[in-house]
Amino acid sequence: MATTSPLDLDFVRSQFPGLARGWTLFDNAGGSQILKGAIDRINTFLIEKNVQIGGSYAVSQDAARALYEARTAAMHLVNAARPEEIVFGGSTTALLQNLARAMQSQLSPGDEIIVTVSDHESNIGPWDRLQERGITLKFWPLNKDTLSLDLADLAPLMSERTRMVCVTHVSNILGSINPIREIADFVHTRGAKICVDAVAYAPHRAVDVQALDVDYYVFSLYKTYGPHYALMYGRYDLLLELDTLYHYFYGKDKVPGKLEPGNPNYELAYSTCGIVDYLTALGERTGESGSTRQKIEAAFAAITAQENLLADRLLDYLRSRNDCRIVGQSVNRNGERVPTIAFRFDGREAQAICAAMDGENIAIRFGDFHSRRLAEYLDLTDHGGMLRVSMVHYNTLEEVDRFTAALDRILAAGTGLSGQ
Ligand SMILES: Cc1ncc(COP(=O)(O)O)c(C=O)c1O
Repeated sequence: MATTSPLDLDFVRSQFPGLARGWTLFDNAGGSQILKGAIDRINTFLIEKNVQIGGSYAVSQDAARALYEARTAAMHLVNAARPEEIVFGGSTTALLQNLARAMQSQLSPGDEIIVTVSDHESNIGPWDRLQERGITLKFWPLNKDTLSLDLADLAPLMSERTRMVCVTHVSNILGSINPIREIADFVHTRGAKICVDAVAYAPHRAVDVQALDVDYYVFSLYKTYGPHYALMYGRYDLLLELDTLYHYFYGKDKVPGKLEPGNPNYELAYSTCGIVDYLTALGERTGESGSTRQKIEAAFAAITAQENLLADRLLDYLRSRNDCRIVGQSVNRNGERVPTIAFRFDGREAQAICAAMDGENIAIRFGDFHSRRLAEYLDLTDHGGMLRVSMVHYNTLEEVDRFTAALDRILAAGTGLSGQ
């Protein structure tokens, strides 16, 4: 097994101040560490540009430029066609609730929306609530044998009344990457739109909304190396059709402002520039000298290579234990999976194992991770649910070895067995 990292990990780790505290942070799908460059942008905004935009005075113009720079950075990050296709918001949950609300005048009783059983509740609940307005909600089931979403199961759910299919790019439990382009083509051919939750994907792979041909695409910056904030891509002509969420005089053409009631948080939006700066620098380090976009893609190719090493090392260990059930693909074939890995130990309480890990300064998480419908569907809610190790590129093979050694000790001590 290769052990040399495809990344300059000294450089990578030096960019994340929170990694200096001696913890092994394996709860990145809960929230990643923030980049120093993102923190610097927040500070710069607050110290140098912290006024309301829209004024005629110089600082206000400067603040407006910073916000535009943030949208432009986000445009590069997801490969949108124009900065106005980026909508900032407090969280993925809030953005999806806003989207469902802004679609109301387009939807009539009897229209149908399809969600998946494998999504985080953020991309189910807002659509579920539309049932109060006469919209029909349908669930796209997961194939229990392969743990995949199959188009054959989607096909019979679709009708001429289907308006939207809401699907996750990666489940925050299963970790496998759904074929979004294929799903988008399928959905579009049948006259519906697609709304993708990319929270568990965006930290791991280069996002290309044009190549994916998605209509709406949402993820959280606090899991993608930024602060507690989120962004939504929407195709420009579709954003134009959405209802305004702001004052009545923000007309339909005020894109994206009409979808950011009370304005975005300027300094958090501005942090996006720090994320893109980092990815650009990482791309340059791989030898890429082309456009910003090409550098971002090169950065994520290196990130993927590092993450594959981490996933392989952990999956090898978990497979070697005869008391462990991996929830998801147990082998990372062709990088089809991100290093978000959930598992259970026969008859053991997940919470007790997690607490023992806390004592080892290793941060993991247990439960259903707010993908409750999936946990219930797969019957994985007893014994505290699942344990989840979620890694990103700044994690190391040494940390994986630290974790597996600690797990060996914790399990050998009988932790989590009844009575222990
Ligand atoms: C896959 C997935 N979707 C959505 C969310 C919700 O994101 P936010 O906390 O920004 O609302 C999460 C958070 O854990 C998630 O993992």
